[in-house]
Amino acid sequence: MEFLSVESSSLSSSIAVGGFSVGQIGAVFVSATTVLLTTLAALTFTLVWLNGRKNSASSQFQMVDSLFFRIKNKAQRLVRSHMSKSSSSSTAVKIAESSSTTTATTTTNNSQSGTIVAQQRPWSPPPGPVGWPLIGSLHLLGQYEVPFEAFSQLSRIYGDIFSITLGSTPCVVVNSFKLIKEVLITKGPHFGGRPNFIRYDILFGGDRDNSLALCDWSYLQRDRRSIARHWCHPRVDSMQFDTLSRVLTSESGLMVNELSLKTAAAAPGKGIDLKTTMMTMCANVFTHYMCSTRFDYDNKDFGKVVRLFDQIFWDINQGYAVDFLPWLLPVYRRHMQQLKSWGTDIRQFIIKTIIDEHRSTMDVNNPRDFTDVLLCQLNSNSQKNQQDDGENNNDQQQFDWNHVLYELEDFLGGHSAIGNLLMRAVGELCSTPHVMANIQEEIRKVTGDNSRPVVLEDRPNMPYTEATILETLRLSSSPIVPHVAMQNTSVAGYDVQEGTMVFLNNYELNISPDYWGDQALTFDPSRFIIQGKIVKPEYFIPFSTGKRACMGYRLVQHVSFVTLATLLQNFDVSPSEDVIHLPKACVAVPPDAFRVVLTPRPSAPAPY
Ligand code: HEM
Repeated sequence: MEFLSVESSSLSSSIAVGGFSVGQIGAVFVSATTVLLTTLAALTFTLVWLNGRKNSASSQFQMVDSLFFRIKNKAQRLVRSHMSKSSSSSTAVKIAESSSTTTATTTTNNSQSGTIVAQQRPWSPPPGPVGWPLIGSLHLLGQYEVPFEAFSQLSRIYGDIFSITLGSTPCVVVNSFKLIKEVLITKGPHFGGRPNFIRYDILFGGDRDNSLALCDWSYLQRDRRSIARHWCHPRVDSMQFDTLSRVLTSESGLMVNELSLKTAAAAPGKGIDLKTTMMTMCANVFTHYMCSTRFDYDNKDFGKVVRLFDQIFWDINQGYAVDFLPWLLPVYRRHMQQLKSWGTDIRQFIIKTIIDEHRSTMDVNNPRDFTDVLLCQLNSNSQKNQQDDGENNNDQQQFDWNHVLYELEDFLGGHSAIGNLLMRAVGELCSTPHVMANIQEEIRKVTGDNSRPVVLEDRPNMPYTEATILETLRLSSSPIVPHVAMQNTSVAGYDVQEGTMVFLNNYELNISPDYWGDQALTFDPSRFIIQGKIVKPEYFIPFSTGKRACMGYRLVQHVSFVTLATLLQNFDVSPSEDVIHLPKACVAVPPDAFRVVLTPRPSAPAPY
């Protein structure tokens, strides 16, 4: 409990609220009416905010905000003056210790006596805006298209690290590469948690720990990551790499066939729905590679599941007021029911079409694919349990059915991220035809005047195509899933309390002129190429870093490379009548995305 702690050890059993003892609470009561009034004002503003009246309400916000600041400052001054008076007769004053937000314990070496001395020092959180009751500083984020813009603006006022309360959740925002490294690498184990958003539980069968990306760090998570390693990071010359290469060649050829049919049937200038085909292609790459199963483009059940994955990916990339204001849940009831049924439908499909079939045909001594490898974990668990004679001395969690199902679902769902990233790349190319021409020229050279399709093995020789994907990532990736401090700790010397949500603002790293120069917002893949080679600055971390870094980044690089190159080898891409809006700081584009015109290229080779 962060603001309410009870010290039972003290004879007077003093109750500390927000670090103030009973003796000081009187001063708080003096301003109780003020708090009530400001709470009502905050509620009104929450409703305005929810109605989406961001821009028109912003000046109104600023006015009431400053009024609230004045009231709040006055209340704080009252409390402070009361505290200093009562500290002189200090028997009643006892500030809560370990769980209080007002003190921190540090150990220092007393050089004279040679002993380690524990010292109390004032709790020192990073500076930041003062929040309102109930909504905290959520209203500050509501004024921007994406929260990361607000974070960048606030960092200009408060510095590279600042505190902000969202709803009643204490958060810290970290804006510089140096401090992001401190959080993710130097203090990675301290920040291995994820937020307790209700949405996350609902999406993953009622428990976000079922999800690899949304769970808190645990031994189980370490094991789940390790089981998937060979499949997520296929090394050149490995069985996994060869399989992926073969799958990509076959699936990209089938995608070209499908797009050719769609293009031939399209009305001139109207464009086609590229996204559905691209997502289906990526989904088939994943099921083919990880489950040795593929589905035809006209398979309605598969089409529905691909769409559900896409809707979930879009949803996870959005921020909702209910994430920080859980009492709004009744307003979101329908949305939450939808999320639940999307997840359930996907799981039923995976069990019916993939897991059941694998279970009935697998050979534990000869796993065929990632699905078999996961199922073998169950087997090794049951053997181990027999050896332990029913007693499990190991306190680490065992791998069970749910883990198989959810881990498979998590990785198969990765295709949505790649499909969306590719749509963003296509969206960028629609307004940069010279970049498309550069890629097509690179393809022509590497494939001997388009005498053969592009294959995965061409990737090292096609830096410009690779750089186009990196540039797309630079302008879109953002830290969608925050970290959470799993213990009291510090960043940049400031105290950070257990349970604090930590946003790593890599959007700032990606678009700040401090890192990328004057043309930071221009789509220019050549910024990643020096003397014909890809060079990634160390501060470019679209997949994050440290123990919770993205597990799928190699698959992203491989799959997006072959798909984009195959598309551009076969078609010129241009805008249709649709407006192309690429959301800021977000890999996802809406499920019903813009249509594009594909014009077949006469020089394209026949697919393998
Ligand atoms: C455009 C593509 C993608 C981007 C930009 C991306 C980015 C990220 C980021 C920023 C994180 C959070 C890291 C952190 O919190 O420090 C993450 C986590 C994760 N990603 Fe990705 N990702 C992408 C695609 C994929 C794919 C294709 C897969 C699977 C095949 C995948 C699997 C995961 C997993 C399992 C985690 C959670 C790791 C953990 O928390 O331990 N990602 N990703």
